[in-house]
Amino acid sequence: MSPSDGNAKKKRNVTLHMVSSLDGFIAKKDNSVSWLHGAGSNYEAGVSISEEEAATFVKAIDCYVLGSRTYEHALELGWAYGDTPAVVVTRREWPSARKNVEFYAGDLKTLVDVKLAPRYRNIWLVGGAMLCQRFLELGLVDEINLTIAPVLLGEGLRMFGGSLTEMRWNLKNVVAYKNGFVELSYSAPVAR
Ligand SMILES: NC(=O)c1ccc[n+]([C@@H]2O[C@H](COP(=O)([O-])OP(=O)(O)OC[C@H]3O[C@@H](n4cnc5c(N)ncnc54)[C@H](OP(=O)(O)O)[C@@H]3O)[C@@H](O)[C@H]2O)c1
Repeated sequence: MSPSDGNAKKKRNVTLHMVSSLDGFIAKKDNSVSWLHGAGSNYEAGVSISEEEAATFVKAIDCYVLGSRTYEHALELGWAYGDTPAVVVTRREWPSARKNVEFYAGDLKTLVDVKLAPRYRNIWLVGGAMLCQRFLELGLVDEINLTIAPVLLGEGLRMFGGSLTEMRWNLKNVVAYKNGFVELSYSAPVAR
């Protein structure tokens, strides 16, 4: 049995999480992030979540995976992933970082099925576009959690580009928030 089959694969759940503009961008050219904040919309029928609910949700995440450019930006903005284990995918050498951050250069299937799956179940892939694209190409994503921000950006970094093949995902949940953001959750097709 290969490491990507059997128990290891059944146990882990990789969720690709991304926030996109209405026109499919995940970052502005200048990397500014004010568009990611909810000011300016008030959708009456929407819900809002309390800080406690958000904290409970985040606590259920066992591990984050991020590309090195997302890592760099996360450091600039102020580390948002707390003490939860995080793996930064990079081929570069980095100075030692927080205790819970490790760097990984290598095969992504091995990362998920051999290194992470035995240790973690709820794994969140939090960007960026390049790394997410690669995970999707390799069939390593079990769920997509996509939040659409109520804004057109016009230009920036596209959420997905390149060579993804057509594949229909299963809509599992939709949450509309008071601030006009909409969260869409999809699970991967069963036979891949
Ligand atoms: N809106 C959102 O939800 C959201 C979420 C996350 C990020 N972002 C934004 O997206 C931007 C970054 O995205 P990005 O697409 O430019 O970069 P990225 O995916 O974060 O990082 C790309 C880097 O990851 C490493 N990498 C990717 N695939 C690899 C592989 N198969 N093997 C080894 N290393 C690999 C390489 O690092 P090395 O060059 O170091 O080898 C590559 O340069 C930032 O502006 C960030 O703020 C937005």
